[in-house]
Amino acid sequence: MQQGRDGFSSRFGVIAAAAGSAIGLGNIWRFPYVLGENGGGAFFLVYMAFILLLGIPLMLTEMSIGRAGQRNPYGTFRFLAPKTKWYLVGVMGVAAAFLILSFYSAVAGWTLQYLYDAIFNNFAGKSSSELFGMFTNFTSGVYTPSIWTLVFLMMTGLVVVAGVEKGIEKYAKILMPMLFVIIIILDIRAITLDGAKEGLEFLFKPDFSKLDSKAVLEALGQSFFSLSLGMGTMITYGSYINKKEKLFSSATSVSIADTLIAVLAGVAIFPAVFAFGIEPDSGPGLVFITLPNVFQQMPGGYVFSVLFFFLLVIAALTSSISLLEVVVSYFTEELKLTRAKATIVAFAGVGVFGVLCSLSSGPLKDFHLLGFTIFDLFDYTSSNILLPVAGLLIVLFAGWKWKRMSVASEVLGEGIKENMLFKIFMFIIKFIAPFAITLVFLNAVGLLKL
Ligand code: PFF
Repeated sequence: MQQGRDGFSSRFGVIAAAAGSAIGLGNIWRFPYVLGENGGGAFFLVYMAFILLLGIPLMLTEMSIGRAGQRNPYGTFRFLAPKTKWYLVGVMGVAAAFLILSFYSAVAGWTLQYLYDAIFNNFAGKSSSELFGMFTNFTSGVYTPSIWTLVFLMMTGLVVVAGVEKGIEKYAKILMPMLFVIIIILDIRAITLDGAKEGLEFLFKPDFSKLDSKAVLEALGQSFFSLSLGMGTMITYGSYINKKEKLFSSATSVSIADTLIAVLAGVAIFPAVFAFGIEPDSGPGLVFITLPNVFQQMPGGYVFSVLFFFLLVIAALTSSISLLEVVVSYFTEELKLTRAKATIVAFAGVGVFGVLCSLSSGPLKDFHLLGFTIFDLFDYTSSNILLPVAGLLIVLFAGWKWKRMSVASEVLGEGIKENMLFKIFMFIIKFIAPFAITLVFLNAVGLLKL
C-alpha cells in the first residue's frame, strides 16, 4: 500500500463498502423501472445471465487492477501500462461518474422528499391515483426537487471529506443489513396482496416476444450500473483492499448480495404494481408510486415507510460516495488538490448538472437533446454506452495487455499456480466478455440482426 493511503481495516469492511457502492438506487429504483419498461421476465433472465457471465468476472478484474495499481483509475492505468493510451479508460470513468452522479443525486433528492413525506405521514389515506399525482406534482416542481438534490450532494461531500475508512466503512457496515431485512418484510406483504400472482409472473415468467435488441442492451447496462462496473469504482475500491484479501470471494459476495437485493426489490414491487392497477412501464416514478400503496396496506406501515425511505437514502449515499470518490481521488492524486478542495470542485460541477437533471421532470421536460431529456440522456448514455464500453476496454486490458502472471498473482495470490476456475475466468475475459459486449452493441445499433 502506498504511504499515507487510506485502506479498509477489515474483511467485512471491504465487502460492506463495495456492496454499499453496488447496492443503491440502481437496485431499488432503476432495476424495477427498467425491467417494467422492457417486458418483465425475459429481461430478468438476460439480466441474470449478464451478471453471472460478465458482471462477476468484470468486478474481479476491476478489483485486481485497482489493487495492483494502488491509485485512482487514471493513475492506475498510467502505472500499469506506461506510455500507452490506456489511461483514457480512467478518464472515461471520471466522466461517467460525473454524469451518473448528476441524475443519481436528483433521484436521491426524491428519496429525501419521500422520507420527509413518510415522517409526516403524507401518504395516509391516499388512493393509487392520488399517490401518482403526488409524485408528478413534486417532481415537476422547480425549487423543492432542486434543493433536495443539492442537500443530497452535500451529504455525499461531507462523508467523502471525512476519508475512506471513517466515512464509508462505518455507515455501510450497520445499515446495509438493515435494508435487507426491511425489504424482506415488504416482500412478505407484497406477495400476500390480492392479485400478487400476476406480478410475480410478470417478473419471473419469461415472454421472449417482449425482448428486443434494445432490451438486451439495457439489461447489460443495468447489470453494469447495478454492480458499479465500467467506471473505475471497483478499481478505486480495489486499490484500498489489503493484499491478503481473496479478491475472488470479495467480488462474488458483493455481486450476489447486489443481485439478491434487486430481485427482492422486484418481488416487493411487481405484485403491488398489479394489485393496485399501476402500469409496470410507468418509468422512473414506479417505486415511488407503488410502495406508498403497500405501506398503507400493512400493519405498522408508518414505521416501515419511515425506515424504508431512511435506509434508501443511506443506500443511495453509500453509492454516491463511491461515485464522488472516483472523481475526488482523481483530483487529489493527479491534480494534487486537497481532499476538501477536490470535493468542493466536484460538488460545484455536479451540483449544476444535478439540478438540470432534476428540472428535467419539470420546466425542462420538453427540452430534448438527441431525443432525450437531460435526465434520460445522462441515465441512458452512461449506463448503456459509457459503462459497457469502458467495461469492454477493461476486460481487453486484463485479457490481452496485462501479463497473465500479474493477473494471476492478484486474483489467486502471489506464486499460486493457476487452477481451473482461474482458467475459466481468463477465458471469459479474453474471449467471451469482449465478444458478448460487442455483439450486444452491434445488435442494438442495428449493424447485426440476431
Ligand atoms: N451501483 C449503484 C446502484 O446500483 O445504485 C450505482 C453506481 C454506483 C453506479 C457507482 C456506478 C458506480 F460506479
